[in-house]
Parts: sequence; C-alpha cells; structure tokens
Amino acid sequence: MPNRRLDDDVAYVTGASSGIGFAVALELARAGSFVVLGARRQDRLRQAAERLRTEVAGARVFTHPLDVNDAASRAAWIAAAEATAGPCSIVVHNAGLALGRRAVADEDLREADTMLDTNVKSVIALSRALLPGMIARNRGDVVLIGSVAGSEPYALGAAYCASKAAVQAFGRALRAELLGKDVRVLTFDPGLVETEFSLVRFGGDRAAADKVYAGMRPLTAVDVAECVAFALTRPRHVSLDRMLILATDQLGTQAVHRRPLPG
Ligand SMILES: NC(=O)c1ccc[n+]([C@@H]2O[C@H](COP(=O)([O-])OP(=O)(O)OC[C@H]3O[C@@H](n4cnc5c(N)ncnc54)[C@H](OP(=O)(O)O)[C@@H]3O)[C@@H](O)[C@H]2O)c1
Repeated sequence: MPNRRLDDDVAYVTGASSGIGFAVALELARAGSFVVLGARRQDRLRQAAERLRTEVAGARVFTHPLDVNDAASRAAWIAAAEATAGPCSIVVHNAGLALGRRAVADEDLREADTMLDTNVKSVIALSRALLPGMIARNRGDVVLIGSVAGSEPYALGAAYCASKAAVQAFGRALRAELLGKDVRVLTFDPGLVETEFSLVRFGGDRAAADKVYAGMRPLTAVDVAECVAFALTRPRHVSLDRMLILATDQLGTQAVHRRPLPG
C-alpha cells in the first residue's frame, strides 16, 4: 500500500522548535500537510520555518508562539492557527522535557511540577480544546509522544517516568472513548534520541548530555519522525496504536551497548 498523501491535513505540532517536533513537522510537510509549529523560542521557530520552506518546495507553514503550560498562550495559538491554516486534523503532542536525575527523596518539586505540567496536563488541556472539532468533523489524528520511560521506569527519573506513564494511560483511555469515530490515537514511545533533550535535562551541561549517548548509536529525531509519518500515512482504517522505537544498541531502559571510545 503506497503512503497516503496528507494534502488535506492541517497538523498542529507542539514543541516544534527543535528535536523530534521539528523533524515530525518536516516529514508531515513532505507528505503535503499544512504544518503549524508552536514552541516558546521565537528565533528557533523562525529558523525551523525557514528550513522547512527550504527543504520542502511549496511547504505550507505557520508559526506562532506557544507555551503549552499557559492557558492564554494555548488559546491564542489555536485561534491563530485556525484563522491561518484551518482547523486541526492532526495534533502532535510532542512538547516535553525531563529535568534532572534525582532520587525521589531529593526531588525538586518545582521541576517535578514542570515535567507533569508540560508532559501531561498540557496534553489534556490541548486535547480538551481540539477534540470537539475533530469529533464533530469525524476526522482526526492524535499523536502522543510518550517514552520507553513510561513502561520501563528507571531509578533517578521517577517524576519523568511517571509523566510518560500518564501519557500512555491517557492515550489508551482516549482510544477507548473514540472507538467508532474516525479519530485515531497513536502513541510513540522512543528510547534514546539525540536531540536537545539531555542538554535540557542537565541544565545545559554539554559533557553530561554527551555522556548519555557516548559509545552507542542513538536514534535521531528523523528516525522517530519517519515512524510518525509512516503511521499517519496508513489508510484511515489502520491504527498503529502504539509503537516502541529503540536504538538497536538499547534494550529498554536497563541496558545500553556501548563501544569503547576512540583514544
Ligand atoms: N530525546 C529522547 O531521548 C526522548 C526519548 C523519549 C521521549 N522523548 C520525548 O520527545 C519529546 C520531544 O523531545 P526532544 O527529544 O525532541 O527534545 P528537545 O529537542 O529538547 O525538544 C523539546 C521541545 O519541546 C518544547 N517545549 C518544552 N517546553 C515547552 C513549553 N512549555 N511550551 C511549548 N513547547 C515546549 C521545546 O521548545 P521551546 O523550548 O522553544 O519551548 C522543544 O521544541 C518530549 O516529549 C520528550 O519527552 C524524547
């Protein structure tokens, strides 16, 4: 079955200023979708839009600032997107982050709140805003970017793992609610992907971030984005409900094969 084109789609992508979100926007633009990019960093959003237009001839791109944790910002992003690009037919809930690696006994509660707000509560709030339209039109795709951390929690990451377990549970519950509607709910659980994720997690400490991927071959954001695009371009009666995407060098969260570093 050839890939379906997404020429009639309007994809709203959160956290599209870097990493997986940007790569997904690029793949969806290649497939013909109008893409709406949202994130907090305006300079990076502008660069993302420029790159999309350079790489995809005729790309239809709209950017607007978005802080997924701010109700007014979410409402303004959706209103601007609807006015410019049209109603959302694909939403990619990608904005997310991990902060620190700490034992629960040493948890920084502000960081835990930020992870739960960004990774879980904003997904619920954006879904609340966008789902009524999808249900009324009987057409839509809800893409959730979870993590292997949601199903294989690890020490020193409890709050992040809990947030991603919540994303997985939310996706399953939503899928059950939408049975009988032409609205798919597709959850992707990546393993180690080399993006700005670890840099953010370690507060900009480049050496600590690099150590995460040292000696192994991590996934790239494009690897994940291609899986998302593959799922979205299946015929509408096919729902790739859950996809675990690991680097070949990674066995879940507990074992990573690393080669000795040169020198
Ligand atoms: N990298 C991995 O190994 C990995 C593995 C499994 C799952 N994931 C998940 O993949 C998703 C994307 O992460 P990534 O790896 O691509 O990391 P990344 O390069 O750090 O990208 C994170 C994106 O989220 C955005 N973001 C963060 N807080 C936001 C907020 N309050 N409002 C709007 N946007 C916000 C960031 O944009 P601004 O800073 O410009 O707002 C950025 O565009 C996350 O949900 C992450 O948990 C990553």
